[in-house]
Amino acid sequence: MLVSLPGNIDIRSTNWDTRSFGELGKWLVNQRWQMLGHTPELVELTLDLAAAMGFAREQLPQFHSGVILHDIGKMVIPDHILLKSEELTAKEREIIQQHPGNAYRLLSQVLPDGISLDIIHYHHEKWDGSGYPHGLAGDQIPLAARVFTAVDVWNALSLERPYRPAWPKVKIVRYFMEQRGRYFDPAVVDAFLGLVV
Ligand SMILES: [Fe+2]
Repeated sequence: MLVSLPGNIDIRSTNWDTRSFGELGKWLVNQRWQMLGHTPELVELTLDLAAAMGFAREQLPQFHSGVILHDIGKMVIPDHILLKSEELTAKEREIIQQHPGNAYRLLSQVLPDGISLDIIHYHHEKWDGSGYPHGLAGDQIPLAARVFTAVDVWNALSLERPYRPAWPKVKIVRYFMEQRGRYFDPAVVDAFLGLVV
């Protein structure tokens, strides 16, 4: 565990209610999630893109919880791997790549199937099948995850990291055009660039 959870949150509890998730979300944001780039813009842009891709207003809260919780599996990754500024070893990469599956195993016990779990489980899959943890391709990846992946990468590239400076917007747009149909769903890229450019 990276840091101790506050006393009012029991991660092992199987009896999670909305308040527990709210508390956990606040803790994540306050402790270190901002440092990892999980900013309010990430939620805002995801909701905008989900709406642009045709999701109904009533579905947007599921996107919100999915975004807040999507990297919760990283809680059990040691700091020296998670915050490493040099290149990761193959073993370290393997450990990092376990985070969507770990989060899914934990949260599928308490969340219904659907948008939130899809985001948590599949946000590192890529349109061309080269992502993880399952190497799904194209429409095999749930649309909610394809939507969030685009926003997550956009957000990450726009922020400074220990190993690189923030990318200027023009460079990120070029990257999205290059990765349209590779990393990202082409329809999602089109809708997203329509929103942010
Ligand atoms: Fe992740």
